[in-house]
Amino acid sequence: MDTDLHVFHTSRRRFLLSTCGAFGAGLVGAHSQQANDDSGAQVFLAFVEPWTDPSRDMVVSWVSDGAEAVVMEYRAPGAVTWNRVTSRRSRHFPMLPGHHIHSCLIEGLAGDSIYEIRWPGVEQIRKFKTAARGKVKVSFLSDYQNLEFGPGSLLEKFGKVVAAEAPDLMVLVGDYVNDDGRMNEESSRHWFAFLRGMAEYYHTRDGALVPMVALTGNHEGINAQRNSNALGNGDGTIGQIAEIFSWSYDPQHPLRHCNSAATLSIGTDFFLISLETDHTEKLEEQLDWFSGQLAQNAAKHRHVVVAGHAPAFYGMGKFDFNPISPGRRMRDLIWPAMAAHASKIGFYITGHEHILAITDKLRMDYNPSLSPAENDSRWAVDPQRGVRQLGSGPWGAHVLDVDPQRAGAVSSIDGSTKMLAAMGLDFEKRTLQIHGSGITNDVE
Ligand SMILES: [Fe+2]
Repeated sequence: MDTDLHVFHTSRRRFLLSTCGAFGAGLVGAHSQQANDDSGAQVFLAFVEPWTDPSRDMVVSWVSDGAEAVVMEYRAPGAVTWNRVTSRRSRHFPMLPGHHIHSCLIEGLAGDSIYEIRWPGVEQIRKFKTAARGKVKVSFLSDYQNLEFGPGSLLEKFGKVVAAEAPDLMVLVGDYVNDDGRMNEESSRHWFAFLRGMAEYYHTRDGALVPMVALTGNHEGINAQRNSNALGNGDGTIGQIAEIFSWSYDPQHPLRHCNSAATLSIGTDFFLISLETDHTEKLEEQLDWFSGQLAQNAAKHRHVVVAGHAPAFYGMGKFDFNPISPGRRMRDLIWPAMAAHASKIGFYITGHEHILAITDKLRMDYNPSLSPAENDSRWAVDPQRGVRQLGSGPWGAHVLDVDPQRAGAVSSIDGSTKMLAAMGLDFEKRTLQIHGSGITNDVE
C-alpha cells in the first residue's frame, strides 16, 4: 500500500496519527432540491458527515433553538442560486432543553469543493468541504475523554494540528466525553461543547467544516449494572451518540449494519469499514456482514481501512483486558476474516489503549480446540496475509503506560513480538517510553 504514515507530536506527552494516500480523481455535477419555506431560528452549531461517499454526498446537521427550523439552503462554489433542502431527521438534542438537531442529506456534490450553507433568518453563512478524490487525507482521532473544549484545550490544540493537515475526512474512533451512556443534561452539555469545539477548530483554512464519522467506544454505553461504562459487560443500549450522529446511527443509513458498524467509500480509491467492538452488537453477529462487505468492496478500491474502538493486540500495562474486552474476539474472529483481503487492508485503526502502537503485519492462527489463553499468543508475522494494527494514541485523555512484558510478548507460532513500536508514559519516571521489536528506550 503506497500510503505514507505521519506521526505528529504536539507535545512531549501527546501524539496523534494522520495518514495520507495518493489517489485518483473525478468529479460529478451538483443538483438542486426544492423545499417549503420556514421561519428563522438560532443556529448554535453545525457539523457534516458523509452518507455514502464524502466526495459525493453529505449529511449536514445543525443544532437550533427551533423544532420547526427544518429548512437549510446551500449553494455550489460560484453559484448565485441557493438550493433549499429540508431536514430528513429532526430530534431533540438529548436532555438539552430548547435544543434540536436537524439533519439534511445533500447528494450529487462535486468533489474537493467548498459549499456554502445558510438557514432562513440566520445572517451567518457557513461552509463545508467535500472530500477530494485525489491525494486523499484521512485523520484518525480517538479517546478525547477530556471535559475542556474551549480556548487552550487539547481539542483546540489538536484542531490546529488537524486543520494544518487539511484532511478530507476525520474518523473518530470512540470515547469522547465520558457520558458512559448516561442520558442526562450534564453529558448533553459536554456533547454540545465537544461539537461546538469540533466546528470551531477542525475546519479548512477557509473555515469550511470537514466531514467526520464517529464510532462508538466503551464510554458511549453503560454497563449491565448501570454504574459505569460498557467495557466488558455493556447492556446493549447506546447513549447520546446515536441521537447526535447520522453515519451508521440514522436507522435509514443505507450502508449501516448496526450502530457504529458501517462503510463509506471515496470514489473507488478508499474504503472504510467500521466495527462496533464494544457492546451494542456482538462481533459474532457482525462477522457475516463484515466478511461480505470486504468480499464485495476490497477488490474495487485501492485502499481499505478497518476501524474499531477496541484493539486486538494490546501493549498497555496495568490492565489485563483479555478477559473483559473484545480483544480476543477481534483476534479470533475478525483477524482471520481479514486475511484473504490483507493485501488491500492498509491497517486496522483502533483507540482505547491511550498509547501510540504499531504492530507488524500479523496473521492469527486461531485454533478452536485450544483454550482462549493459549490462542492469545497464536499470531504470526505474515507480509501476505497479515494486517497491521495502529493504535491512535489519546486525543485528550491521559496517556497510559506501555507494559514491556505485554508489548514484548512473544508469539507461540513464530517467536515474533507483536509490536513494532509502542509509545506510552512511564508513570514512575514521568517520561515517554517506547517499546517494540528490539526497542526499549525511555525518551525524555
Ligand atoms: Fe475506550
